[in-house]
Amino acid sequence: MSREREQWGTRAGFILAAVGSAIGLGNIWRFPYVAYESGGGAFLLPYLIALLTAGIPLLIMEYTIGRRARRSPPLAYRSLSRRAETIGWWQVAICLVIATYYAVIIAWAMRYTGFSVGQDWGTDPESFLISDFLQRADQPGMISSYVAGVAWPLVAVWVITLGVLALGVRRGIERANKIFIPLLVVVFAILVVQSLTLDGAADGLDAFFSPDWSAITDGSVWVAVYGQIFFSLSVGFGIMITYASYLRRRADLTGSAMVAGFANSSFEILAGIGVFAAIGFMAANAGVGVGEVLDEGGIGLAFIAFPTIISSMPAGSGLFGILFFGALVIAGLSSLISIVQVVVSAVQDRTGWSRVPTVLVVGGAIALASLVLFPTPEGLFILDAADHFVNHYGIAMAALVSVVVVAWVLRRLPTLQAHANETSALRLGWWWLLTLGVVTPVVLGWMMVDSLRTEFEAPYEDYPVGFLLVAGWGVAVGVLVVGIALAYLPSRRADRFVSVTDEEGSD
Ligand code: ALA
Repeated sequence: MSREREQWGTRAGFILAAVGSAIGLGNIWRFPYVAYESGGGAFLLPYLIALLTAGIPLLIMEYTIGRRARRSPPLAYRSLSRRAETIGWWQVAICLVIATYYAVIIAWAMRYTGFSVGQDWGTDPESFLISDFLQRADQPGMISSYVAGVAWPLVAVWVITLGVLALGVRRGIERANKIFIPLLVVVFAILVVQSLTLDGAADGLDAFFSPDWSAITDGSVWVAVYGQIFFSLSVGFGIMITYASYLRRRADLTGSAMVAGFANSSFEILAGIGVFAAIGFMAANAGVGVGEVLDEGGIGLAFIAFPTIISSMPAGSGLFGILFFGALVIAGLSSLISIVQVVVSAVQDRTGWSRVPTVLVVGGAIALASLVLFPTPEGLFILDAADHFVNHYGIAMAALVSVVVVAWVLRRLPTLQAHANETSALRLGWWWLLTLGVVTPVVLGWMMVDSLRTEFEAPYEDYPVGFLLVAGWGVAVGVLVVGIALAYLPSRRADRFVSVTDEEGSD
């Protein structure tokens, strides 16, 4: 029958795992290009405001919901209200989708770590990436063939991830992060120092740090900032609820959330410094301004601009490449582990299966989907559309719905506040209620409207509408429908869980 829930070995182990989840591709791959596209310095002030008014308060809410119920997101939300279980399954479905393509970017980074040694991309990194490596089709469509060079590192990524998960929370996830995080910090510190010594680095930093007050009034910057904060902190998709569900009953919540939140953002800003210094170098080399040096957004920054930078470095270029792509691999793996763990733990809670069979069945199915869809000429288009839609109308929308439901429909913020305060040194006060109850729903709600308006003005990236209906809207709506369906499948285990929390009066 019901097995003892696994637990973290130590508080430091939990914080390292939470930091490992937060620091991921979002920090190294996504943050610098989102900041760059938003004009560099325009980004920092809204970023800090969003971190303090939405990111950290939401992180604390998720920690508290997870630790209070000591269950994965569906049952954790169900412990607040039967109908809220849908939010939990919605988040599980979001994780399932993200895991399939997140693994692919790690696989590319793995190959690029090797390519860095001999700078295999030659003199034209863009055509190397698009034509030689990804063998991208000219346009989105049905899967036409298979790209072995992407498939085999992807198999390696899945073997490592599922291997760690099969070992369990303490022996697998906690131990892996105890190795990954210190390693990442060392690798990244060397990388940033090396970047800062490049010619033109100061101009890059200038672009990154010069504040642009007018950005405060630009809606699209705020949309980008909120999306970035949620993705980067791993909030809105159930990860932090899941990780907190393995905490001991007396564990400090708010302090841990602050440490994880600030560690993540410090790392992110460090990554921004390293990347902008390198972009400054690229601009100096090309004899143009920092703002003009890149025309590729998205993956272009990591997989096109960085190879260009590496090839033109005066010395130590091979090492720089290995460190940069190696850091992407390490940071990505520790986050992917946490994303898949959400699905594994939800299925375990629902079925009562033990860990290894669940990892094999559930993790194996996700790995298979990832291996079928992405190492293909059409994979990049699917990845781009799914990433855009699942971030905007999955993570951010689920975050909005969860705060509105918890704060206004169920009115459970005071209960959660009391629960967190019972065991935390840093007490939650009115600021927490205000930011979650008012600021976050208003800004997120407005952001959602703004973003939907843009979506309907023109098809995302000018992709064919039929393709967007499947790989974009289809995915965003699909995760919600799956969430609702799973929440309403009858489950005796779930019914029993609620009566247990009621009896315990787990508040
Ligand atoms: N938080 C993880 C990242 O930043 C998902 O990539």
